[in-house]
Amino acid sequence: MLKISRKEISAIKTDMAVLFACEDKSLYKGAETAAIVARAMTYPEFDGKTESELIFYDISDISAGRVLVCGLGKAGELDSEILRAAAGRAVKKGIGMKLSSIAICVPEVALPDPEELPSAGPVMEGACLANHCFDQYLEKKEQKPFKQIIVCGDSGAGVFDDLASRISTICKGTLLAREWVSMPSNDKRPDRFARSIVKAAEKEEIEAVVIDDRDMKKSGMHAILAVGAGSSRKPKMVVLEYRPKAFNKSVVLVGKGVTFDSGGINLKSASGISDMKMDMAGAAAVAATVITAARLGYGCRIIGVMPIVENMPSGDATRPGDIVKTYSKKTVEIDNTDAEGRLILADALSYAEKLYEPDMIIDMATLTGACMVALGDKIAGVFSPDDDLSAGIVDSAKRTHERCWNMPLPEDYKKLLKSDFADIKNVSSVRWGGAITAALFLSEFVKTENWCHIDIAGPAYSEKGAAYAGPGGTGFGVRLLLDFLEGV
Ligand code: BES
Ligand code: ZN
Ligand code: ZN
Repeated sequence: MLKISRKEISAIKTDMAVLFACEDKSLYKGAETAAIVARAMTYPEFDGKTESELIFYDISDISAGRVLVCGLGKAGELDSEILRAAAGRAVKKGIGMKLSSIAICVPEVALPDPEELPSAGPVMEGACLANHCFDQYLEKKEQKPFKQIIVCGDSGAGVFDDLASRISTICKGTLLAREWVSMPSNDKRPDRFARSIVKAAEKEEIEAVVIDDRDMKKSGMHAILAVGAGSSRKPKMVVLEYRPKAFNKSVVLVGKGVTFDSGGINLKSASGISDMKMDMAGAAAVAATVITAARLGYGCRIIGVMPIVENMPSGDATRPGDIVKTYSKKTVEIDNTDAEGRLILADALSYAEKLYEPDMIIDMATLTGACMVALGDKIAGVFSPDDDLSAGIVDSAKRTHERCWNMPLPEDYKKLLKSDFADIKNVSSVRWGGAITAALFLSEFVKTENWCHIDIAGPAYSEKGAAYAGPGGTGFGVRLLLDFLEGV
């Protein structure tokens, strides 16, 4: 998707050249580019503040049809996310203008925070992530993503070929997850979603297995079966295994794959149900992460486990008060059929831990509305008994701007999950702390301390879209997990 050019931006024939400007500092060494930015600053309608922009047409000495100058704010406050967002907005603008080519000139600025990457990385990432339209269902595709995005350095010094190919691959992973999440539930019922994952994985060196409802019955995964009981399409569990030739560590990733969450017999309200096609975003992120890690040749063994079900009400559906025996042999009283994510994860977590004996387990799930109440719709909650593990995830969150916040797992809250009739019940007896009690429920089904749960209910989906994403699935979690696994 990215094409590096060693030419100066002024020599690149393109529909639109993109330059960046800070409010208080010139960023380009190249004389022509610096002059254009300086001219932009003379117009009162452009001040270099973030989100400000100016378009010039018919500039002499430059081969581009037009030049877009994008504001980055104050130089001393510049960070990766400002660059990502500005590049993303530029690409979205180009797509909106129905242009067919674009070239971005990366300013070679050192970011104020020494821990930050050089500017080229985030610029390319924002551009790649924005270059996507979920248009499968449109008869007329009026806005089309660019076939390629040309990137050049200041004064023609582009030395980031490897970085460009790596970033393209990572962003393709995010876009794959977005496509799955935005897809309507009628086209991703469990059998089809499972097949779609297997098809994508089989193009890489990944072993893919699908466990069906008969296998589940035999091995005792009655929690998954109970959630799927109301749907005419039976549950599936996809297991992907990426195994490099030599490895030291095995990591299990588990992703919640509820292709539609109606709430079941505890049917959701009209406003709560509308975007519930996104309730498989954890599974989408895990599948896309394993596939991308294989493409990049990561050094650790990664097993992706995705329990996939549709949570529907019907005459066969599980009722509140029903008791099921999980894979772990613990019994669960299903007090609320809308708390289905933790049920399918319980079986998937204990199955994966027993079978693979991994060094680490990470699950990702659109688990609770309560996590959105706590952290809003942009930040995921991280829960782990191992402080080093959660700190590692939070570090990756900072680098990728897939934001995460460390949350507590207080032992004494476990009593809120006590059932009078079974070993545990699937919802807390009080309203408060719902994201925490959900995480504590999961903790009952993993033995290792090296486990981390990431609640992505907020950031997995965006109704309006953002600087480098359209409306719909955000693909949240793919870049986060890839960044984390790179260090394992
Ligand atoms: N899939 C939902 C959580 C969710 C809510 C994700 C909003 C994304 C946006 C989950 O299965 C659910 O329904 N959780 C209930 C739990 C409750 C019944 C204890 C919730 O959060 O209300
Ligand atoms: Zn639910
Ligand atoms: Zn759900």
